[in-house]
Amino acid sequence: MSTNVVEVRNLRKEFGSAVAVDDLSFEVKQGEILGLLGVNGAGKTTTIFMLLGLITPTRGTIKVFDSDMHKNRFPALQRMNFASAYQFLPYHLKVWENLFVFSEIYGVKNSKKKIDDLLELFELTRLRNTKTGMLSSGEQTRLNLCKALISDPDLLLLDEPTASLDPDMADKARKILLQRQKESGMTILNTSHNMIDVTELCDRILFMQHGKVIASGGAADILKQYKSESLEEVFITIARSSTMEVV
Ligand SMILES: Nc1ncnc2c1ncn2[C@@H]1O[C@H](COP(=O)(O)OP(=O)(O)OP(=O)(O)O)[C@@H](O)[C@H]1O
Ligand SMILES: [Mg+2]
Repeated sequence: MSTNVVEVRNLRKEFGSAVAVDDLSFEVKQGEILGLLGVNGAGKTTTIFMLLGLITPTRGTIKVFDSDMHKNRFPALQRMNFASAYQFLPYHLKVWENLFVFSEIYGVKNSKKKIDDLLELFELTRLRNTKTGMLSSGEQTRLNLCKALISDPDLLLLDEPTASLDPDMADKARKILLQRQKESGMTILNTSHNMIDVTELCDRILFMQHGKVIASGGAADILKQYKSESLEEVFITIARSSTMEVV
């Protein structure tokens, strides 16, 4: 078994004549938190959707837990989970019902206690009997994070997980994710436009532009490489430069 939980090789996705992901290769090591950064339209969500098997790549390979996601994705999917600030759970179900449905899908043992604990952790207990569609966007995001953690995934994919959270809740969510990661050793792939998320959560960062990786490394390496004191500044420099060399 390789220490790479994710191995992406020469991945490409075309939507008609548009290229969303272009010859993308990267890996995520066991227990690593990798940040996928890039301007709007860089190809981050498309990459995550291909990792989940929701979009079929035009070309290239994806291996998760040494399993080829194109040929045999279900064993890997059982060990993965996903949260996004923009993908909502069924609106007509109550908060607890949504978590119960997903715990059944994943075959979670002792699901009642797990649901109670997660609702408590993300401060949703008082909303447990509320229909999901009635939640505010930040509350829905918190519910998505509960759903993502209900199965104790070995690989967690997060697409802008704190995007609609207030600063206090975003801080709490980061601390919960870090704590869980420390306890379980799970691997996380995280996209974010919030540089606090990136600084506090990520061991390593990939900057994407036009579907390619154009810079990568730990936050400190990247700051050194760009002679900058903030990732926000590096992001803006990269975003406004069209002649960066591919690393
Ligand atoms: N289903 C689709 N059909 C056509 N084009 C698509 C489709 N999905 C994504 N795209 C295009 O692919 C490109 C990459 O989109 P993607 O959602 O991956 O970007 P992103 O990096 O997640 O951006 P953001 O930061 O705004 O979330 C964009 O130009 C987008 O318009
Ligand atoms: Mg996106």
